Amino acid sequence: MQKEEEKAGKPLVFISGDCGDLGTPNIELKNFPDGEKYVRLPILSQCEGREVTLVHRCYPEQDKSIIQLLLMIAALKSSKAKKIIAVVPYLPYARQDKIWKEGETKSSETICSLIKGAGCDLLVTFDCHFIKREGTVHYGGLAIENLTMKDALLGHYLKNMPQALVAAPDKGANYMVVMHGGQSMKKVRGEYSEGSTAVRPVESLEMEFDVGGKDVILIDDMIAGGGTMIRAIKECRKKGAKSVVCCATHGLLLGSALADMLGAGASEVAVSDTILTSISKVPIKAALGKFL
Ligand code: R5P
Repeated sequence: MQKEEEKAGKPLVFISGDCGDLGTPNIELKNFPDGEKYVRLPILSQCEGREVTLVHRCYPEQDKSIIQLLLMIAALKSSKAKKIIAVVPYLPYARQDKIWKEGETKSSETICSLIKGAGCDLLVTFDCHFIKREGTVHYGGLAIENLTMKDALLGHYLKNMPQALVAAPDKGANYMVVMHGGQSMKKVRGEYSEGSTAVRPVESLEMEFDVGGKDVILIDDMIAGGGTMIRAIKECRKKGAKSVVCCATHGLLLGSALADMLGAGASEVAVSDTILTSISKVPIKAALGKFL
C-alpha cells in the first residue's frame, strides 16, 4: 500500500548520521576493510518518481564526507528519483574560487561539478564563500540555493544590545551587514607562507568607520584559523570600541582560534551549527524548514 506521504507528494528525506539534530538518521555509512566508503540508503526503493532530499554534513573530514555525498547522490540517481536536493550546511572546498598563483585550480568549481555530475539537481547550503549573497545561483553547472544565517546570528546579539554597531571584517561578508546598516573593513591577504600548509596570512586590514565608544558585533561567513577576526577585534579595540563580540556561520575554529579571539579582546564568539562546535549557539534547523 502506498504511504500517506507518498500520496501527498511529500519529498522523501534522507538524514545522515551526524545530522540527528535535523531529523532521524536513516542512512547506513560504514567503511570497507581498506578504508573506502560504504553507503546504503535502506528505503531507496521508495524514491522512484519522487522528490528526495539528502541531508549530510561535510565537515570535519571533508574528503571522506564528500565521497559519501557523491555515492549517496549516485544511489538516489539510480533510483529514478524525480528531483534530488542535497543539503550540505557547510560546503567544503568553497574557498579556492580564484587562481592566485599559476598552476592552481578552482577547487570550488571542481566540487560543484562533481556534485552535479553525480546527479544532484539542487544543492542547498549556507553562506557559501564564493557566492557572497543569498539566493539561487548556478556555479560549476550546479544549481545552488545559498541560505544565510546572518539575521539569526546578529539577532543572537542584537536582542541584548540593539544599539550595537554591526561590521564585517572584509568586503566578502558585506552582504551580511548591509541590511543592518553595517559596514565592512578592507582586508588584504599576502603571499603564501613557507611550508606545507597552503595559507595566505592577512597582510592588512583597514577600517574606515568609527567604532569609538561603541559595542561592535563582527560577523563573517566563517572563522577558520581566526586570523581575520583577530585582526578585526584588535583594530576595533585599538580604535576605542567599548566591547567586541564575534559571530560567523561556519565555525571551523582551527587550532587555538577561539582562545586567540577571546585573548584579542572579544567578549563572546558564537557560530551556527552548520558545523557542530562547542559554541554553536545559533541552530540552522528553522532555516531549513521547507527541506526537512
Ligand atoms: C575569507 O574571505 C572569509 O570570508 C573569511 O574571512 C576567512 O575564510 C576566515 O579565515 P581565517 O579565520 O583563517 O582568517
